[in-house]
Amino acid sequence: MRNEYAADLGLSESDLAPGWHSQFARWFADAVAYPLPEPNAMVVGTADAEGRPSGRTVLLKGYDPDGFVFYTNYDSRKGTEATGNPWASLVFPWFPMQRQVVVAGRVEKVDRAETEAYFATRPRGSQLGAWASTQSQVVPDRAALDATYRAAAERFAAVDDIPAPPHWGGFRVRPETVEFWQGRASRLHDRLRYRRTEGGAWITERLAP
Ligand SMILES: Cc1cc2nc3c(=O)[nH]c(=O)nc-3n(C[C@H](O)[C@H](O)[C@H](O)COP(=O)(O)O)c2cc1C
Repeated sequence: MRNEYAADLGLSESDLAPGWHSQFARWFADAVAYPLPEPNAMVVGTADAEGRPSGRTVLLKGYDPDGFVFYTNYDSRKGTEATGNPWASLVFPWFPMQRQVVVAGRVEKVDRAETEAYFATRPRGSQLGAWASTQSQVVPDRAALDATYRAAAERFAAVDDIPAPPHWGGFRVRPETVEFWQGRASRLHDRLRYRRTEGGAWITERLAP
């Protein structure tokens, strides 16, 4: 299966916004308007202490000049890996637009107050699910999972505002690099990357496809 990227719209240095954040905002708005299904779905790569990588899809729940935020179970595989080895990658695979955005940087837990404020906006069923699920652990069967959900529902039956579980919260990936990839004809794709230099200044550079 091989697509020739015929539209050949291209991404040139003069198209780039002054910073990765405003460039991402432009492309993210394009992805929403396209419309792409789940434009905020991104693949998070983490690695364990020995450097063995793992990846999975999560939803981007916010981004600002400090980084990209997603929410998960801190005791999950990604949670323990990101805590033990604080480097992560993010990939936004926007195939129908012949685009991808690739981020690499340090990952850190978001402030507890930020997690709690976001948790409060989640549907009650998702809040109960966060309490019920021991994400990434082996469970005996579906019935056991449903039983832990029912137990959580009973536990919080009289509680209007369910608190965020201590094992659940946000991670923020603070980028060191953010690459914008635009498919072009003949595999001569455009790859423009923002990179934070050792001194902390951001530069942009073109990568060979
Ligand atoms: C479209 C999509 C969105 C998802 N969003 C999230 C999310 O925001 N947070 C999360 O913890 N898991 C999310 N998941 C589930 C994860 O892919 C994964 O199964 C789970 O987090 C456990 O990953 P781990 O065992 O590698 O830690 C999503 C899955 C899909 C397919």
